[in-house]
Amino acid sequence: MIILAIETSCDETAVAIYKHEKGLLAQLVYSQADLHSEYGGVVPELASRDHIRKSLPLIQQVLANANLQNSDVHGIAYTAGPGLIGALMVGSALARSLAWAWNIPSVAVHHMEGHLLAPMLEANPPAFPFLALLISGGHTLLVDARALGDYQILGESVDDAVGEAFDKTAKLLGLGYPGGPQLSKLAESGDPDRLRFPRPMTDRPGLDFSFSGLKTYAVNCFQKLGDDQQSKADIACAFQEAVADTLAIKCGRAVRQTGVKRLVVAGGVSANVRIRQRLDDMANKQSVQLYFPGFEFCTDNAAMIALAGCYRLMAGETDSLAIKARPRWQLAELSALV
Ligand code: KG4
Ligand code: ZN
Repeated sequence: MIILAIETSCDETAVAIYKHEKGLLAQLVYSQADLHSEYGGVVPELASRDHIRKSLPLIQQVLANANLQNSDVHGIAYTAGPGLIGALMVGSALARSLAWAWNIPSVAVHHMEGHLLAPMLEANPPAFPFLALLISGGHTLLVDARALGDYQILGESVDDAVGEAFDKTAKLLGLGYPGGPQLSKLAESGDPDRLRFPRPMTDRPGLDFSFSGLKTYAVNCFQKLGDDQQSKADIACAFQEAVADTLAIKCGRAVRQTGVKRLVVAGGVSANVRIRQRLDDMANKQSVQLYFPGFEFCTDNAAMIALAGCYRLMAGETDSLAIKARPRWQLAELSALV
């Protein structure tokens, strides 16, 4: 079965071709970062307009890269939510209409299920049941993944998502958009012993997170220390350490609470090397098997949507002709595939 996937939930236009028997055949990701950078964040209307411009040429290109014709595609998977409504509508309308024109089924995929399954694109994929820490620009979720589609939320952020906190703190430090990777780069030259940020919500039971306080802490340090380059690097370093430590503490706690010894870490922020290291330390101490997607599958991509869509189409799931875009869609609303 050959699947074409389309991902347009935020500021990447991504397409992929996935073959069930073989894996990923081709993928392309077009980032709109340059378009949004002068505004310091994603401008939803500009995102939608750019998805419209880029989608079909990218689809034509990815098919050519995989040496395939339109008629070779058996099904289309697309991100129906959660995300920016206008951006989602572009991908959903295009995907559903192409499937109708080509007389093949299509399936609506939950963006976070895509992230959760991304490590399955790698050799040695995780088997269910496993825990999943999903850390992206819009979500921070700790999930008990019992089977495909059967997801129970154990914890989530009560305010900013991890990626959002990285991006806001980066903006404060005068770094460009998206700030996460740049803050992480700056942190490399920081002195880890100069500042210590709090580890929010680790001193009480529970698996929820809070990251907006770290951003405020960074503002206060910035005002106190001034904006010399070394101080900025020290703030970046202390911020990143606090995030990494907090995530590791909560994941360790989730492992103890559930007894599940497999942990998937995915979403854009899982590309962060320091966070990977801290989770690796925890996993070694608690004999946990840890799974990350490859770096190209951490941030938004269509390969993960193709994989999730392929499983769903193979289980007989298809959608109706009414085009669906669900900007707010809870992961726990999905149900187990039979
Ligand atoms: O999963 P993703 O591509 O999009 C959403 O679904 O939100 O995640 C994007 C987020 C952004 O906040 C970005 O700054 C962050 O992931 N990110 C990072 C790193 N790479 C991407 N944050 C920290 N360190 C990184 N290396
Ligand atoms: Zn994402």
